[in-house]
Amino acid sequence: MTARHASEGDDASPVGADPSAPGAGSRHWFEDVADHMGPAYLRYSFTRGTDQEVAFLIEVLGLEAGMTVLDVGCGPGRHAIGLARRGIAVVGVDISERFVAVAIEGADREGLSSMVEFHRGDARRMVGDGRFDGRDLDAAVSLCQGAFGLGGPPDVADPQNLGADQAVLEGVRAALRPGGRVAVTAFSSYFQVRWLEEQDHFDAAGAVNHELTEVADPAGMRVPAELWTTCYTPRELVMIAERAGLVTDHVGR
Ligand SMILES: C[S@@+](CC[C@H](N)C(=O)[O-])C[C@H]1O[C@@H](n2cnc3c(N)ncnc32)[C@H](O)[C@@H]1O
Repeated sequence: MTARHASEGDDASPVGADPSAPGAGSRHWFEDVADHMGPAYLRYSFTRGTDQEVAFLIEVLGLEAGMTVLDVGCGPGRHAIGLARRGIAVVGVDISERFVAVAIEGADREGLSSMVEFHRGDARRMVGDGRFDGRDLDAAVSLCQGAFGLGGPPDVADPQNLGADQAVLEGVRAALRPGGRVAVTAFSSYFQVRWLEEQDHFDAAGAVNHELTEVADPAGMRVPAELWTTCYTPRELVMIAERAGLVTDHVGR
């Protein structure tokens, strides 16, 4: 989705286990997943397309050297570092301390530290946070479900299951200059239901897919993990963007 500014393991329980379970505390469910993977995240095959993705973002968002982009749920910084190599500054935010550390190390290794800021933070709470709010940034990305879509299991207090993702988009809007452009990826509900696999359980009311999988650490040790991904129809994406004060100009496939 691309939008523009409206105004113009341990072995007792899998990593990522239900964050609403008693004793789960206030940690985001993805933090345990990220703690286990660390830099091994960058070995997963889906990261091999990073250079093409960065080139696509530059084209579709009209990015130029000297601009600054907000990378929401930046993870280990693969897009941020790719943009910085092209002279585009990046403000990254991620809830995982481990991934933020990996991102900082990656930028240091390439001598790009002056081009990037990586912050540990909750993208659902960017409104009112001066590290992001009111920065007049040129564009924002949230890729591979970078915070958007990772709010966890449906919450009884939020029957439409829109609160977490709407808060992420509101934070994006608050960080952008008028006319700043946004690219967000989301799981498709239609695809998810059509291709449901044995390890998936799709909650139709909240449109959350609960997947049982395994994740590997840098030594290759695999542990069970649970992933919770909110899925969207194109129509819902347009509606949630509008609620957050963004105007959708394209929903891709
Ligand atoms: C699948 S990874 C995607 C990382 C990166 N955007 C990429 O394309 O490789 C999802 C990222 O979103 C982060 N995340 C999830 N919820 C978040 C939140 N509420 N605030 C900030 N980061 C969040 C996770 O820590 C993780 O790094």
